[in-house]
Amino acid sequence: MTETPIDDLEDFIATCQKRVETALDRRLPPADKLPSRLHRAMRYATLDGGKRLRPVLTYATGRALNVPMEILDGPACAVEFIHVYSLIHDDLPAMDDDELRRGKPTCHVRFDEATAILAGDALQALAFEVLAGDPTIKVTPSQRVAMIDCLAKAAGAGGMVGGQAIDLASVGRQLDLPALELMHIHKTGALIRASVRLAALCRPDLDSETAERLDHYAKCIGLAFQIQDDILDETGDTATLGKTRGKDRAQNKPTYPALLGLAGARRKAVEMHENAIASLEPLGERADLLRALSLFIIQRRN
Ligand code: IPE
Ligand code: IPE
Ligand code: MG
Ligand code: MG
Ligand code: MG
Repeated sequence: MTETPIDDLEDFIATCQKRVETALDRRLPPADKLPSRLHRAMRYATLDGGKRLRPVLTYATGRALNVPMEILDGPACAVEFIHVYSLIHDDLPAMDDDELRRGKPTCHVRFDEATAILAGDALQALAFEVLAGDPTIKVTPSQRVAMIDCLAKAAGAGGMVGGQAIDLASVGRQLDLPALELMHIHKTGALIRASVRLAALCRPDLDSETAERLDHYAKCIGLAFQIQDDILDETGDTATLGKTRGKDRAQNKPTYPALLGLAGARRKAVEMHENAIASLEPLGERADLLRALSLFIIQRRN
């Protein structure tokens, strides 16, 4: 495996973060436009925070497939809008009841519950508005429809929302490994997979083997990402995480460390990373950023 130096990855992440911040800002409704409380809540939850890992993955897949960044701003924003909506709702009292997110008060604490619910709803709609109509996404109408279909399935009952439903139904019960994996693949993996796939869909000429290899890579890192999230809930600190540590155990959530222990969870994350890397083998050097991102996911501290 050719190693991409971490400096390159850090530069790439920083470039993508800056780029997507501007792109998100442009696509969000202005704060002073009515209903301004709703718009302020959408902007508060979306801007100025988060690792932007999903947009970074979209741009990095674009790099591997020669898709220009300009075409990917729309898909990158769409997936981040869905992600932010999922975070706002995940933090609500009816779900994880969290007060800290991205180092600041959660949306329902800063505003109010009804506004937070509506901000999440509106961000979800905005994601699809962007995919359907954003003029910077220069693809054919059928590619656009494929992108909308991809994100809708990843976000909905068969994806993220379905995973969240399993999560909430499993509180206080310990799941076995296949059930835990299924939950994680849905609640977190689905959107991570969509982040990669949305970029691949910009290349309708892509051979099916490469598309499948990228999809398998994304599936593996999606699971690794949530395993690391579970690990950090136990081993991280609130200031670095920007969210309250120890909530999973306090709320009796089924997690990888709870089932396998910390060492077992770490082994599983490494195994997923290795599977992800193996899947990219035939792609050569152009996939170096994707390889580096896989490692980043299991080594991250927030
Ligand atoms: C947190 O996602 C929620 C999960 C799906 C585990 P991130 O760790 O990507 O959160 P941000 O976007 O960086 O805040
Ligand atoms: C949330 O998983 C996944 C989402 C769909 C938002 P978690 O509940 O573990 O995410 P955190 O730890 O609150 O960020
Ligand atoms: Mg949750
Ligand atoms: Mg949560
Ligand atoms: Mg968590």
